[in-house]
Amino acid sequence: MDIAVIGTGYVGLVTGAVFAELGNHVICVDKMPERIAMLKDLKMPFFEPGLREMVERNMEDGRLSFTTDTGEAVKASEIIFIAVGTPPKENGETDLGQVEAAAAEIGKNYNNYKIIVNKSTVPVGTGDLVREIIVRHKPPELDIHVVSNPEFLSEGQAVADALNPDRIVIGAPNQQVAMKLIELYSILEKPMIITSVRSAEMIKYASNAFLATKVSFINSVANLCEKVGADVDEVRRGMGLDDRIGSRFLRAGVGYGGSCFPKDTESLLNVSKAFGAEMQILEGTIAVNRTQPVLFVDKAESVLGTLDGKLIGVLGLSFKPNTDDIREASALHIIALLQERGARVQVYDPMAMDNVRRSGLQASFCEDEYDAAAGADAVMVLTEWNRFRQLNFSRLKRVMAGAHLFDGRNIYDPAVVRRYGLSYHGVGRPSVFADETH
Ligand SMILES: NC(=O)c1ccc[n+]([C@@H]2O[C@H](COP(=O)([O-])OP(=O)(O)OC[C@H]3O[C@@H](n4cnc5c(N)ncnc54)[C@H](O)[C@@H]3O)[C@@H](O)[C@H]2O)c1
Repeated sequence: MDIAVIGTGYVGLVTGAVFAELGNHVICVDKMPERIAMLKDLKMPFFEPGLREMVERNMEDGRLSFTTDTGEAVKASEIIFIAVGTPPKENGETDLGQVEAAAAEIGKNYNNYKIIVNKSTVPVGTGDLVREIIVRHKPPELDIHVVSNPEFLSEGQAVADALNPDRIVIGAPNQQVAMKLIELYSILEKPMIITSVRSAEMIKYASNAFLATKVSFINSVANLCEKVGADVDEVRRGMGLDDRIGSRFLRAGVGYGGSCFPKDTESLLNVSKAFGAEMQILEGTIAVNRTQPVLFVDKAESVLGTLDGKLIGVLGLSFKPNTDDIREASALHIIALLQERGARVQVYDPMAMDNVRRSGLQASFCEDEYDAAAGADAVMVLTEWNRFRQLNFSRLKRVMAGAHLFDGRNIYDPAVVRRYGLSYHGVGRPSVFADETH
């Protein structure tokens, strides 16, 4: 099939590359000329495992191309995916400006029947809005259908997720239109669920809000564990083995971040209020997530006596492992709090250093984890990169001035950490002090 994908961010670029890999002809569009120039040069605008190789292969085979010219891409395609950003406004509402602009461009270049597929995460009813905008601009005699096909990929494993999704949701106005999407996706041999456009839009928000709630739930349990002397890591293992609960998204830590959970929970809460069916549970989910970084910094302050003048080594800046995305990363909230309370911070992340530099963060940028720990009173691990799981604790202890390890993702065994003369402080678990620090 001839496909256009508007927006070459995490979702658009991965979607475009995967559709090309599956044998389609794909034109990816972005309004940022520098991004398109980079892609034509085979430079990826962000890190995602396996993406560069897939883009290269499909460009070479002539199935994947890049342009800033939306008109050219729209005219050449029978299915057009909208995968532009839907950032939050100040008040938590979703800013649909990019979606509206893309829809207007599609309408102005509409030269024959096409199916428009919304892949961006958008509030219920946006399918109708996209249709209205396109209808306003397109020649009246040409028919059009708008489908909602939300994306569930996770950054850091986006290519694998797009090739191997749990399910494909197709919100279509009628069966015939749904069939076209089924045809496109059938090669993946994955369960497909056909719904109304509005249900599909809701499925995406409800799924993300549920996962975010699961994270905030276990974080609340963690906070209670600390008070009552239980270990949340044992608790989550005991809970997660129950099939009805499941073990994923059940790890306590310093909170969720990224470009999806924070904005999608806010947006769904906003929509629920606007329609008079307020989802109070989301107020709790959001509030717990805002508090987790503060509680973590409070703990460090209490252990160290004060943060004023202390040097903290921070390991991990991206909002999760295997990505360089730092949008709404908990690490950045924690660093801001540490600095507010007078601490100096030296940081290291395997992938996100460039993005953090560009963000304007004032900190010492280090070469590796041991460089970031050098001379530090305490080290905080805030993103569970695999290489941090294999920290050499004796080397860490040797280079540090103090001996406190704050494990913001509960990835270490406290007893092992203690064996190396370091005090261990996790989330929702009892601190274990090394002899010389307690
Ligand atoms: N990032 C994720 O993990 C993820 C997962 C599932 C769903 N989503 C959703 O998918 C959507 C896209 O997310 P993202 O992370 O890829 O966003 P992004 O910000 O990384 O990328 C959006 C891209 O769209 C481009 N763009 C904006 N308006 C345009 C226009 N009119 N014409 C051409 N290009 C335009 C921007 O320049 C940018 O490159 C959002 O709605 C998001 O909520 C994201």
